[in-house]
Amino acid sequence: MNKAIKVGINRIEFSTTENYLALEKLAEAHQIDPAKYLHGIGQSKMAVPTPDEDTISIAANAAQDVLNTMTPEEVKTISTLIFATETGVDQSKSGAAYLMGLIDIHPNCRAFEVKQACYGGTAGLQMACDMVRARPDESVLVVACDIARYQQNTPGECTQGAGAVAMLITANPDIIEIDAERGCFSADIMDFWRPNQFKHALVDGELSKDAYLNVMASSYQGYLANGGKPLDQLEWLCFHQPFTKMAKKAFEHLSAQYPEQMADKTDAAYSISQQYGREIGNTYTASLYIGLLSLLDNAEQDLTGQTIGFFSYGSGAVGEFFSGTVNKNYRNAINTLANQQKLAARTALSYDTYCQYMYQLRDYDQANIRYNPTSGSNFRLAAIHDNKRVYERVLEPMSKAA
Ligand code: COA
Repeated sequence: MNKAIKVGINRIEFSTTENYLALEKLAEAHQIDPAKYLHGIGQSKMAVPTPDEDTISIAANAAQDVLNTMTPEEVKTISTLIFATETGVDQSKSGAAYLMGLIDIHPNCRAFEVKQACYGGTAGLQMACDMVRARPDESVLVVACDIARYQQNTPGECTQGAGAVAMLITANPDIIEIDAERGCFSADIMDFWRPNQFKHALVDGELSKDAYLNVMASSYQGYLANGGKPLDQLEWLCFHQPFTKMAKKAFEHLSAQYPEQMADKTDAAYSISQQYGREIGNTYTASLYIGLLSLLDNAEQDLTGQTIGFFSYGSGAVGEFFSGTVNKNYRNAINTLANQQKLAARTALSYDTYCQYMYQLRDYDQANIRYNPTSGSNFRLAAIHDNKRVYERVLEPMSKAA
């Protein structure tokens, strides 16, 4: 591998739904103490997709936001569009192929989907970094998007969410250079899965928490053995966050295992990366990178030259520990105000409307159906016609009908 070439994230944008459910309302409906969700799980809101929003439409918003920052010449350098999801809309056609028809990209590129639970976004990122190391004149657009959906009235319900992240991977990146050193660990574990006939995930919650921590420990050891930096040289830590308490558990696990290397770290080392996730909920493949954006947007100090350790976990299970160093141009390359406004401008749903959107009106099994424009987003699923999904690009934001 040519380590002399610096590669990494040159642009990063996120999108989520315009509607959310406050977890106090879910606790009220479940007749339990809201402190369990707010503090025990560590989530305050969950993003809720309308029936005309799916992983393609949500992803298109983030991907188009990245393309909007690029000149036509820069767009032409995109050799590959990688779409990562575990909420696929088709067993054969990739989400990337759908995106080709929606966003302002050019057709002379390869477009495909990758899947391994929440790890898919990292699979895309690392594949993209290696592609750019081999061909530094090219760039790769990695889009990760998921809708986390569990059965109603199960313990997983409070950890739902929806969102996407799009990252442009280039040589000499403006935001963060991804180090070549990495440590991976894979094993066959039945902690979380979704059989084809199910519309929601099945999960062994306790096993998933243990597997996450064990796979993290093995991945970090692999990263160190491959020449990675010890924890005391990583100023910040970004963990995959299915719910923010899990990231706290990851931090505590590393602190117990490596007390000397972790001695100087305060909670801020990982908790700033949780601010957005706490407001959005689980976004599976996108969650780690929405965490990165949360850190870049919300850390008050200048992060230039500082190193971030990342742990990516995908149930089933694959983990990867890696690191990256923040570039001096990062603040000009991210749109902090717009990102914060995306979250502040959302609409709070009643519990009943949440149930309709999340559980009652998501009838994608029908061969023919039209969807009312409720999302307010620039991209929407307009209909399913003869089993074909029909998407619409809406130039002006639509009026909300929550
Ligand atoms: N006030 C404050 N905290 C409270 C509380 C209250 N009234 N009631 C419970 N809690 C705490 C518990 O002590 C626990 O904290 P801890 O984990 O630090 O001990 C936390 O809230 C969760 O309680 P628990 O009883 O374990 O929750 P649960 O059995 O309802 O399920 C999950 C929690 C995460 C297993 C469940 O939401 C799930 O399956 N999620 C999907 C899978 C997932 O995201 N896995 C992660 C790895 S990928």
